[in-house]
Amino acid sequence: MKADARDMQGAASEVVRISCVRHTYEDGTTVHLCGLDFLARRGERVAVLGPNGSGKTTMLFHILGLLRSQEGEVRVFGSSPADDWPSLRRRIGVVLQNVDEQLLAPTVIDDVAFSPRQYGLPESEALERAHRALGLLGIEALAPRVPHNLSGGEKRKVALAGALVMDPELLVLDEPFEGLDPASRSSLLSLMRTLSIERGMTIIMSTHDIDSVPEFADYSYVLAPGGRIALSGTPAELFARPDLLVQGNIKPPILAALFARLRERDATAPEPALSVAEAVDALADWKRNEG
Ligand SMILES: Nc1ncnc2c1ncn2[C@@H]1O[C@H](COP(=O)(O)OP(=O)(O)O)[C@@H](O)[C@H]1O
Ligand SMILES: [Mg+2]
Repeated sequence: MKADARDMQGAASEVVRISCVRHTYEDGTTVHLCGLDFLARRGERVAVLGPNGSGKTTMLFHILGLLRSQEGEVRVFGSSPADDWPSLRRRIGVVLQNVDEQLLAPTVIDDVAFSPRQYGLPESEALERAHRALGLLGIEALAPRVPHNLSGGEKRKVALAGALVMDPELLVLDEPFEGLDPASRSSLLSLMRTLSIERGMTIIMSTHDIDSVPEFADYSYVLAPGGRIALSGTPAELFARPDLLVQGNIKPPILAALFARLRERDATAPEPALSVAEAVDALADWKRNEG
């Protein structure tokens, strides 16, 4: 796969690099994020895939300086997040897997305005930023509500508004699709595309939602149990190898499985398609050429 070509593009565009980090929790459980280096470059959307307990949250916590590596190295914008978090935090937006831990203010608008107020921006600007962030998520109407009373999906959107309120260069999302209905999921996907393409934001997302990968990710890493970074590639590279995904305990997307089966039966069948629209075109072309 293309890890080397990506690696060669130079340190200047590197936003996050993780090299063989080991973390042992108090009860002795060890997560060893080793194998391949994890790399995210400026403006990239990078997915972290892997079964439950493989170490996705542990990896993100190292990026956020919430855990300190006991071995190996974590670099975020060239610094160590566990040591230099005060200088990094303004550049980074975060949505934790458990958003309840993150929404602490009495109302939604206070919650989203929390960071700009903390950074000492004038009250009018703090509120303007907060309203703008709610607008990006299409949830202005939630501004006066009490976060505790919101649905899971609404809470996640409020947390995301709070993560975006300071225009971060890096956005870290732990399982952001949990609790989102299909319409919210697809508007979140298109918002992430806009943020990365138009603002050059780097987005790192952990997910179980393999079907979001072609739409979301420029590049993906697959964690195996114990944290081993077992596999990486563009969506096309990963989806061309459903056998490797199965070994990594990842259920391949239904389209990848369909095209792999077709090719087993008939070597003239097309390359795996990444979306329904691509699949329709590929199958129509195939049929025409057969005839
Ligand atoms: N606070 C903790 N104490 C002990 N073990 C933990 C703790 N947090 C996570 N783990 C263990 O570390 C491993 C990786 O967990 P995690 O990073 O949460 O995985 P994922 O996010 O991929 O589901 C799992 O075996 C999990 O049980
Ligand atoms: Mg997790």
